[in-house]
Amino acid sequence: MTKKSILLLSGPNLNLLGERQPEIYGSNTLEDLVELATRTAQEAGLDLVHHQSNAEGELVDKIQEARGVHSAIIINPGAFTHYSWAIHDALAAFEGVIIELHLSNPNAREPWRHISVVAPVATGSIVGFGQDGYRIAVQAAASALSS
Ligand code: DQA
Repeated sequence: MTKKSILLLSGPNLNLLGERQPEIYGSNTLEDLVELATRTAQEAGLDLVHHQSNAEGELVDKIQEARGVHSAIIINPGAFTHYSWAIHDALAAFEGVIIELHLSNPNAREPWRHISVVAPVATGSIVGFGQDGYRIAVQAAASALSS
């Protein structure tokens, strides 16, 4: 049997992690978080592919391309979380496990961050655990894929 794989998608401004508001997002770089997620996936016997983009259309393309290729998508959509119906619709057309992931807890921040248009099409959401969320999200995907 071929190894199942996870697509980890990072949205806008996450390329600046480590420099960007470390009091909110921590001091780890995106590379550190991808390394943690990759290691966790390997421990669970899964492959993990990562892609970061600041462009909404590119994220939509990656979600569409994941159909029939990846078993799960873990997505931190950045600010697109709060208004991208295009990402919502693309995820709705993905047949596998979908995990919404945030470093911070958007529900405890400004009111405009309390709305997620991604949450209604996600299998589940992991928010507010900082870098640990990347490990937890991969473990949750692995568990959902094995059940
Ligand atoms: C974020 C939360 C979003 O509200 C914000 O726009 C981000 C990062 C997080 O990981 O906490 O860019 O997705």
